[in-house]
Amino acid sequence: MESSRDGAKQPERFDPGRAAQLDDPARFDYLPPAELFALLDAPKGGVVVDFGAGTGAYAFKLAQARPDLDILALDEQPQMLELLKKKLSLNPAANLRPILADGKSLEALRGGADRILAVNVLHEVGDAPLRQMADLLKPGGSILFVDWNGAIERPVGPPRDHVLTPEEAARRVQTLGMEVLTRRALRYHYALVCGLSRMD
Ligand SMILES: C[S@@+](CC[C@H](N)C(=O)[O-])C[C@H]1O[C@@H](n2cnc3c(N)ncnc32)[C@H](O)[C@@H]1O
Repeated sequence: MESSRDGAKQPERFDPGRAAQLDDPARFDYLPPAELFALLDAPKGGVVVDFGAGTGAYAFKLAQARPDLDILALDEQPQMLELLKKKLSLNPAANLRPILADGKSLEALRGGADRILAVNVLHEVGDAPLRQMADLLKPGGSILFVDWNGAIERPVGPPRDHVLTPEEAARRVQTLGMEVLTRRALRYHYALVCGLSRMD
């Protein structure tokens, strides 16, 4: 039976003990939220799923920048969502909802997302969650994958052999039936905007 990690470059589950790294403000210098949100290009009043939201570092920024959006912060680990909820209790955001990514919620959200944001997730998810991600999209919706660039030396982030090069990332999503609409090189990351062509 296919595990949710099959197909991942780095199949270890993210360790919630490292969650503080996700809230390091330095991230916003080398991976500016505004740059990601321009690529995300969410329609006014749209639904955005932050898939693998972690502590919500980017979900909170998006909620502030775009109060018109309904932002669903999905994570498979209850410990990560607890950290996000704690932040939410200190900094309420009416347009940000934490959701456990289990079979029931994924089914309920099927076909409901205008955009999906997936930051530092592609290298650690298997093929099955990538298909689930695609199932969440409305017709004409798109997914923004942003992940550490395995083709360059970096002073931060996972070792190069734990992540994908932009070419490997594009091949991976294309193999699963996604179409790469836009590619962008960021300082330590790559970004791929993907639509659906066909999902196997
Ligand atoms: C490296 S962290 C990135 C968190 C956040 N996107 C950020 O950049 O701050 C990856 C997160 O993805 C979550 N994750 C991994 N696989 C997942 C899946 N199949 N469904 C939902 N969340 C997943 C992990 O629990 C973890 O919180």
